[in-house]
Formats: sequence, C-alpha cells, structure tokens
Amino acid sequence: MKTDTTSLLSRVMALSLTLAQSCAVASAEAAASGTKTLSFSNSQPTDAVPAPPDFVSPGFETAFLDNYANTFSENLISSLASRMSVAPVIRVGGTSGDRVQFDPSLKNVNKVCVKGDCPHGSNAHFILGPGYFDAFKSFPDAKWTFQAPLGDGTYNETQLLAYVKRAWDAAGKDRVDAITLGNEPSVYWKTAKEYYDGAMKVQATIVKTLGLQGDAKIFEVGDTLFSAATSHKPYAVQEAFKAGFDSDKKVKFAAEHWYQGKKTTFDVKTLQDDLMNHKAITNLFAGYLKSMNAVQPADGGDGVSYILSETGSSTVKGVTLQYTSGFGATLWSVDFQLTALSRRIKRVVDSGRPIAKQGSWTPDNSGNNGGPAVRSPFSANIFVADFIGKDKPRNVVEVLPNEEYLSAYVAYDDGSKKADRVALVNLKAWDKASNQARGHHTFAVPVAQGTDSVKVRRLHADLGVWATGFDLGGTKENVTWAGEQWTYKVDQGKGHFVTGKLEEQTVKVQDGKALVNVPDTEAIIVYL
Ligand SMILES: *[C@@H]1O[C@H](CO)[C@@H](O)[C@H](O)[C@H]1NC(C)=O
Ligand SMILES: *[C@@H]1O[C@H](CO)[C@@H](O)[C@H](O)[C@H]1NC(C)=O
Repeated sequence: MKTDTTSLLSRVMALSLTLAQSCAVASAEAAASGTKTLSFSNSQPTDAVPAPPDFVSPGFETAFLDNYANTFSENLISSLASRMSVAPVIRVGGTSGDRVQFDPSLKNVNKVCVKGDCPHGSNAHFILGPGYFDAFKSFPDAKWTFQAPLGDGTYNETQLLAYVKRAWDAAGKDRVDAITLGNEPSVYWKTAKEYYDGAMKVQATIVKTLGLQGDAKIFEVGDTLFSAATSHKPYAVQEAFKAGFDSDKKVKFAAEHWYQGKKTTFDVKTLQDDLMNHKAITNLFAGYLKSMNAVQPADGGDGVSYILSETGSSTVKGVTLQYTSGFGATLWSVDFQLTALSRRIKRVVDSGRPIAKQGSWTPDNSGNNGGPAVRSPFSANIFVADFIGKDKPRNVVEVLPNEEYLSAYVAYDDGSKKADRVALVNLKAWDKASNQARGHHTFAVPVAQGTDSVKVRRLHADLGVWATGFDLGGTKENVTWAGEQWTYKVDQGKGHFVTGKLEEQTVKVQDGKALVNVPDTEAIIVYL
C-alpha cells in the first residue's frame, strides 16, 4: 500500500514539477491537521539500539580550553553530568589543535597568538605556556579526549609530546578517555595511506612516552572533515581503515565531523529546509553510515566506537546567532542527536570556541558576542541526556522515519524490555513575529495495558524558532525544559525552575492510547 502511493507520487512528480509541488503542499497541510497514530510494540524489538550512557558530549576548541575552565562552565558540565549515569567526555580538539606549540618559559599568560587570523580565527596559531594545561585539572565531573597536534604533517616530536604529556599529567590518566591522532587530516595528508603512516609514527612515540601497555587501546582516529566524510573524497574513516588503522587494535574511536547547514540566507523558510527538517538530517547519513559499518560491523568487530566528534548546526559565513543557536537550531540538535543515536552512532560531540555562533554556550566575552551566556542549544543536550536517562540502561528505536517535520523515538528499559519513554519532535517552524496562530500536532501514543495516565515534559520557547534563551534575549526569549532554564545571569549554569518547580502534565489514557499535543516548534518526552 505504502509502496504503491510512493511510486505513484514519484510518477506524478516526474510528470510535472508544478503538479508535484502542489501535491507536496497538499500532503503537508493534511499532515498538519490530522492525528498521527504511532505504531510500536510495547516489547523491545530486536533492532533496538543500546543508548551509550556517555552519548552526549561537549566540545571545546583546543586553543580556547583555558577560556572554558571557569566556574560557570564547570556548573554547566555538572548540570549535564548530574543527569547521566557516567561522566560526560569533553572533547578538546579542532583546527587550532594542530596549530599550537609549547613554550615552558611563557609564564605570565596561558597563551600568545603568533600567526594567522589572531586571536579568534580558525587559522590562528598559538604558543601555549604551562598555565594553559591547568585547565585539564578542572571539570571534576568530566573526562577528556584531547588531540595530539600533528600540525601539517611535519610535526615536531618534542612539541607534540610536550602537549600530550602535560595534558595527560594534568587530567590524570583515569580521566583521559582518548587521545586523537590529528584533526581533519585530509587537509594536510593527501591520501589515507600518508595519514596512516604519519599517525602510526605519532602513536608509537605516544605509547612509548606514556608507557602504555594493556591500556593502549586509547586512540581516536579520523576526525574527518565534513565534506570528506560525506563524499569519501579524498578519504573518510572507511578508507582510513582500509589503509591500515586498527590492525594493531589500538583504535578506540573512529570519528568524523558534521555541519548541517548549507543555506546562505537565514530566515524562517531556509531554517525549515536546512535545519528543522528530518529529511535534511537523514539524507546526510549515507556517507557516514558507510564508514560506520566499516568499523562497527553487525558482528561487533573489534570494539571500535564510531562517533561524530565535532558537530554544529551552521557555520556558513554571515550566519546569525538566532539561526545557528536559536530555538529552531536547538530542535535540529535534538532531532539530529536522536537520529544518530538510533543509527548506532555512539556519541555526538558539540563544538565551541568563544567567538563561534554555534555551540551551547560561550564561556566569557572574549569573542565579544554577549558572553558569558548559555545559549538555547544547551537545553538540547540536557533533553537528550534525560531521554537516555541515568537510572537504567535503555535501547532506542526511531518510529517515524519518513516524515519531514515530525520525528518520534521510543526508549525501552533494558531490564524489563518494555517501552518506557517516547521523544516526539515537531519541527514545523513557527515564529511568534509572524502573528500566525501556533499550530500543533496530536500524537496517539500506544500505552501498555494497566497504565491509566502518562507524564509529559516539554522543551519550549514562547517566542518560537528565534528564541536565544534568557541570557541573550531576556525574558521574552526564555527556553525551558520541563520548566527549567540554564543561564549565566540567574544561576551561573546551575539551572533554575522559572516558576520555582518542575513543570509536567498528566495525560489520561483512553482506549490504550495517550493523545498528546506537540505545538509547532517544540519537542516533548512522554514518560510511559
Ligand atoms: C622542535 O621543537 C623544539 C622545542 O621547541 C626545538 O628546540 C627544536 O629545534 C624543534 N625542532 C625542529 C626540527 O624544528
Ligand atoms: C523568563 O525567565 C526569567 C528568569 O528565570 C524569569 O524571571 C521570567 O519571569 C521568565 N519569563 C517568562 C515570560 O516566563
């Protein structure tokens, strides 16, 4: 039945673009008014994906790690960590990570920018002093992944080891989750083989210097440039593994980068097509899944985890803060993370530097962009962490894969194998300034026999897509999850309930279903 409709629609589309466009409009309108009945089993299906407890992960650009090392950022990480069953892993890396040198005599400052577009651009080169490394001692609730600086391939071994050794000692061995061999290597190493050969030399010297033995399965490789990850040109993780990585079983993570947005204008329509769009997200996975399947075959492989180690909504030149880290981008982040999770990707890492407009918070005002400030997407990370939960392991399936503006995910309790929560995302873009009434979507959620009500918590912004959160937008731009908001101004990142208490609704079950409303531009979790 479904196949018939699809093939008929594609024939109509082939017949006339105009006709196809009007069909698309008609079906979008029909979808907006009906009730969507979700269909999933109350018992865990065999293809449910284990949700890694450390799936949600913050990321700091290497040269700015010391900017993040303050009480405000520590509080934000603690807010996240308190909802996870294990320590979150902070990734320290990025383009600047290949452009740092160490000078032990640099005592009065943590770093000096010496070359390139100083001090904020991605081309800036830094000399780090010993003070920089103290930052690895902070964030007691977290673990670290840091990058061995491979530079342009002509790395200086003394310099490279100076960074690795100091970071390792300051963090403490038990808090180092992984050491990354380079970043976006195709920028420097033209072929997968060249990257592999270079990285192996670096790996050998690190193994020796740190005295690694049984614990040498600690390396992260790839960190593939976004364009290479999607096109496999010149190479992505799949090709890097073919060139030899992990033949020595020392790879813990194979990683790639993801930047979603392509649009060069930034309005509600482009936001809807570019970010707030489940198809735009799922369409991008093809190239990544080829790499993932190469390192995480169905039979389990060698225990290498495939992760997205640097991600962001949009870094297109001229992008506005509202576009790349407003509430619309926050719902993009929720949907993107849950889509990745349900496709067996083991971790999604945020990215941030003080001047960057994407990212969940800015730690200070060095980027002259309103900081220190929590931005709206921080709440996406909290939402995903809460969906995974800290009380017990869960397994996840996506249950509405083919919609453009709606998505749904079910989490099963790993113990009882019963469905215990459902995340629903309504990506239909709504902007309060449009003066249009805010639409909604009703979902009929199947509920196990004997349950007479469910609880619902909401990720919400009164303003709609452009809400940036209280710090940057004031009281009209609040972004709350179950009534809680994270700010610099009110709580220094600890979080506070705007009405003084957690907000959730109770929805009665009728005929084995809970009917829940999700307004346009909102995401909810239904606790079954
Ligand atoms: C490597 O770095 C060290 C320490 O900064 C320096 O003494 C040495 O000259 C460098 N080696 C090369 C080949 O540049
Ligand atoms: C927004 O949040 C601030 C800080 O918690 C609060 O004072 C204000 O009342 C909230 N505004 C609305 C409209 O809820």
